[in-house]
Order: sequence, then structure tokens, then C-alpha cells
Amino acid sequence: MAAKITDLLLMLLIFLSESCVIILAFNVVDFGANPDGVTDSSEPFLRAWAAACASPEPAVIYVPPGRYSITQVKFGGKCMSRGIEFLINGTLVAPADYNVIGNVGYWILFDGVDGVFINGGTLDGQGAALWNCKASRKDCPNGATSLGFIHSNNVMVYGLTSVNSQLFHVVILACKNTTLQGLNIMAPRNSINTDGVHVQFSSGITVVDSNIGTGDDCVSIGPGSTNLWIENIVCGPGHGISIGSLGRDYEEKGVQNVTVKMVTFINTQNGARIKTWGRPSTSFVKDVLFQHALMYDVQNPIIIDQNYCPYNKSSCPGQYSGVKISDVTYEDIRGTSATQVGVRLDCSATNPCRSIKLQDVMLTYEDGPAEASCVNADGTTSGVIQPMACF
Ligand SMILES: *[C@@H]1O[C@H](CO)[C@@H](O)[C@H](O)[C@H]1NC(C)=O
Ligand SMILES: *[C@@H]1O[C@H](CO)[C@@H](O)[C@H](O)[C@H]1NC(C)=O
Ligand SMILES: *[C@@H]1O[C@H](CO)[C@@H](O)[C@H](O)[C@H]1NC(C)=O
Ligand SMILES: *[C@@H]1O[C@H](CO)[C@@H](O)[C@H](O)[C@H]1NC(C)=O
Repeated sequence: MAAKITDLLLMLLIFLSESCVIILAFNVVDFGANPDGVTDSSEPFLRAWAAACASPEPAVIYVPPGRYSITQVKFGGKCMSRGIEFLINGTLVAPADYNVIGNVGYWILFDGVDGVFINGGTLDGQGAALWNCKASRKDCPNGATSLGFIHSNNVMVYGLTSVNSQLFHVVILACKNTTLQGLNIMAPRNSINTDGVHVQFSSGITVVDSNIGTGDDCVSIGPGSTNLWIENIVCGPGHGISIGSLGRDYEEKGVQNVTVKMVTFINTQNGARIKTWGRPSTSFVKDVLFQHALMYDVQNPIIIDQNYCPYNKSSCPGQYSGVKISDVTYEDIRGTSATQVGVRLDCSATNPCRSIKLQDVMLTYEDGPAEASCVNADGTTSGVIQPMACF
């Protein structure tokens, strides 16, 4: 049954619908959602989703302005309609008590959906109490990712704001053809594990035109990521754009065909980073392009670190990474390094980095050129290179 259509939405729909396409609208308030910021609106949101999902025509779920308290929701199932849009003009608020969803993995999850469009809205993860817990104790819950997509295809997220997630802000796992555009992601510099966007086991993912500043990676790229496009991002504070950590498991899918262009890194720990565990693995990284990056006081503007081994050195026998890194290009990377070594290529003794290309790299440290440090790395240079490459 179609819910009542508000005047505002009706106007939008007339604008949106092409002459003979019918779009049905479902207002979450008509399903019982309460914009008072206190009443749990999880069930009404799920009922609105179920109605949209059962609709044979494309459907819009409308979230009017206001604050909606959401405990935890999973949107899934094979829907009848060819596309469901969430038009969000309000803020979704996570439980303030981290124990409520701290062990469920995801706060808002889309599982197995096809053709979903999330348009606008703000997600407030209220993660501060959990970060404080993690900073002082060891027995805290892991935390929930604010927005997750699993086994989903043809998803578009546009103009979403996500603040203060408990754990990651957005996770794309086992998805195809998904675009994130115009995102605003914010958490404090000292917040723990609040990665902006994490992509894993996914192909054809695009992240563009976004501002990401958190306490961890702006974008982190896990195993099995292929055909990934990242463009026009302002990153900082945070740990930069990171491929890895890879090679934690022996049998692991590699990362291939990643483009990262026009990213401005501001006061980040890293710029363009590739990070692997120092232990045996079948994993690999190949065909990566970092292009047109601006660095403002970045601690490690260009870094490959194949000796990652946190917590327990005995879990990295010999410290040699099995991850094979090849065909990585750094082109037009300029700006300031916050440490003396602006280019650090620290590759595996058993699997040296191959075909690293540096073209037009200009990094300064204080009043002079930054330095480069290479271990087990081989490649070529062209154009202006400062610091001089060390292959
Ligand atoms: C509702 O959200 C849409 C999409 O983000 C936006 O274009 C529109 O201005 C918003 N309207 C209001 C009243 O906030
Ligand atoms: C990819 O997803 C978008 C929606 O975000 C859709 O418009 C487009 O047709 C999809 N492309 C393919 C090749 O399926
Ligand atoms: C690499 O990925 C991009 C999308 O990011 C895609 O357009 C391109 O065709 C891919 N290249 C190859 C060789 O698969
Ligand atoms: C360290 O790693 C080794 C090998 O993986 C494991 O046997 C051992 O239990 C770990 N120790 C701790 C304290 O985690």
C-alpha cells in the first residue's frame, strides 16, 4: 500500500519521473518514524523498506527533516522494484550507549540489494564514548560500522554526511558497480579505527568528490579490490589513502587496477600508502596509479611498507612479506613532507617491488628537498624527481 505523499515530495516526484514512469513514495513518518531524536524508529524504517521493496514500480523512501533514533537496521532481500531511492533530509542517530550495537558489526546495513540510491542525509554514529573506552581499556566492544553494503550491486550514494562513527564510516564488501559521490565524512583526529571508506572483495567501485577527515585511513583498500576509482578527494586529518593491510592471510585475493587521482592530503600520517604484513602470502598489488596529489605536511607522502606486524612479532617469521607489488606509478605528486624521508619504499626481501614508476615528484622537507629511501625496490623515473629516486 502506498503511503501518503507529501506536497514537497509530490513536486520532487513530478520533476523526477519521466513522462510515463510511475514512482511510488513511502514517507517513513507515515510508517511510524518519529523525528524527535529519542523514539526508536528502526521498525518504521524497516516497514517503509518492506513496502518499497514489494512495490513493482521504482520507489522512493522519503525521510523528512528531523532526527531519527535508529538502533540497528538491515535492509535486504530481492526487491520487486527496479530501483529504490532513499531521499534523506534528516539525521539518523545511533544509540549513545555503545554496548547496544558495539558487537553487531553494522549499524545500517544493506545486504544483497540491487539498484539502491541513497540521496543526502546525515548519519551520526555517536562514537565518542567507544573511542574513549578503547583509549583507556581493553575489554571494549569492537564497534559498529555506520553504513555497510554487502553483496550488493549498482548502488549509488550521493551527498551523504557521516560523522563520528563507532568504527568505520562506510564499508563496501563483496559489491559490484557502486559509486560514492559528494560524501562528507568527519571524525576527530584522535578517534580510533574510524576509517572513512573501506573497500574489500569488490569491483567497479568509485569514490569521488568527497571530503574525508577521520582518525584512521580516509580510504582503505582491502584484499580482492579491483577496478577501483578514487578522484577529487580532500583527505585529512587521517592516515591517508591506503592499500592494505594486505597479506595477513596466506591465501588472499590481490588488489588490481586502482586509480587514485586529484587527492589533497592535509596533515595526514600518510599520503599514498601500500601496506602489507611481513609474513608469507599469495596476495599481490598491481596496476596502481597515484596521480596529481598535493601534500600539505604529510608525514609519509609516498610509502610502501611491507613490514607491518603489529602486536606480536613472532607472528611474522623472518619479516618477509609474500605480497608481490608491481606496476605502481606515482605521477605529479608534490608538496611538503612533515618528515625528512618523503619517499619510503620498504619492500619485501623475498618479493621485491617491481616496475615502480616515479614521474614528476616534487617533495620538500623544511627548506630543502625531502629524502628517499628504498629497500628491495626496482623501477624507473622520468620528469622532475625530487628527492632523487634510490633505485
Ligand atoms: C532534501 O535532500 C535533497 C537531496 O539531498 C536536497 O536536494 C534538498 O535540498 C533537501 N531538501 C530539504 C528541505 O532539506
Ligand atoms: C552501475 O550502477 C549505476 C547506478 O549507480 C547504474 O545506473 C548503471 O547502469 C550500472 N552500470 C552497469 C554496467 O550495470
Ligand atoms: C580499470 O578500472 C577502471 C574503473 O576504475 C575501468 O574503467 C577500466 O576498464 C579497468 N581497466 C582494466 C584493464 O580492467
Ligand atoms: C604470537 O603469535 C604466535 C604465532 O602466530 C602465537 O602462537 C602466539 O600465541 C601469539 N602470542 C600472543 C601473545 O598473541
